Amino acid sequence: MRILSGIQPSGSPHIGNYFGMMQPAIRLQEEGDAFYFIADYHSLTSTHDAVTLRGNVHDLAIDFLACGLDPEKATFWKQSDVPEVTELAWILSCVTPMGFLERCVSYKDKIAQGISPSHGLFAYPVLQAADIMLFDSNVVPVGKDQKQHLEVTRDIAQKFNDRYGEDLLVVPEPRIREETATVPGLDGRKMSKSYDNSILIFEETEKKLRKKIMKIVTDSTEVEQPKNPEGSYIVDLYRLVASEAAVKEMEDSFRAGGQGYGHYKQQLFEALRDHFAPMREQREKLAADTDYVEGVLEEGAKKARTKAREVIARVRDAVGM
Ligand code: ADP
Ligand code: TRP
Repeated sequence: MRILSGIQPSGSPHIGNYFGMMQPAIRLQEEGDAFYFIADYHSLTSTHDAVTLRGNVHDLAIDFLACGLDPEKATFWKQSDVPEVTELAWILSCVTPMGFLERCVSYKDKIAQGISPSHGLFAYPVLQAADIMLFDSNVVPVGKDQKQHLEVTRDIAQKFNDRYGEDLLVVPEPRIREETATVPGLDGRKMSKSYDNSILIFEETEKKLRKKIMKIVTDSTEVEQPKNPEGSYIVDLYRLVASEAAVKEMEDSFRAGGQGYGHYKQQLFEALRDHFAPMREQREKLAADTDYVEGVLEEGAKKARTKAREVIARVRDAVGM
């Protein structure tokens, strides 16, 4: 079973990225042939400065490795080191009806957020489909917001196979973990870089982490009053890092009343800090060893490229090249 996923180097990853995509991907590396990459071609749709892009790629590689991506188990590379993907994207473009892309909400969302509308942004899902199909991927772990892109990928694969031959391209399955499909941000909307509501995996200081957690939106129930744990973003976030028993204790205490939200936020702060502490330590070591990190990506690109060349040869042959 080939498992594949990608993440854009668009700034420091937040805990929504972690629980939605990185942690499931890291767990799946035990279960199959895992292929993970940093989607720098995709980031050209929004990052227009070379120094920033290069820096973001390097930092994200460190973050992913620190979080537990194991290069002994998973192939890990930078998308642009396997340029065959752009060739496949073009070939897939020619089987993709405009309607597939016109229905994608992420294009409209991104424009609404102020990203400039470009052909690249519009065609983004075709490149994503190429990422997936170039490696005969079966399973794609992602957060819920990627569901539509995976549907488009499957539709493109089917179109290609209808036109050129059954089973030429593998039709992949998304793997979306229900419990962490959408991690809420400080304001309760989906946690996202673009909403200014995220908690980073690696906040610069503990003080910053605590300050952010204290900003989580709550209702105005008085300290003494019982509180509803259902729909509380504090409890939702606590559930991601605390044991079942600890979550139950917090829920019971909510219902009993007598504590203010600040108390629970403090508990959440400590749990998050402790959860990521070993990864933070690992990250410091990796940050001091640039050669190792670059070496991992180079090695990964070699392995990925071997597989990519096999698939692109099959595709070129099928379409008449
Ligand atoms: P952002 O919305 O912050 O720009 P990306 O679109 O770069 O995040 O997402 C990278 C990966 O993280 C994707 O697989 C996406 O589904 C996942 N992801 C992002 N935000 C969340 C969230 N709030 N909850 C769960 N998964 C998320
Ligand atoms: N579009 C994805 C995101 O914004 C990143 C991505 C690019 C991806 N190519 C992929 C995810 C292939 C899974 C598979 O998060």
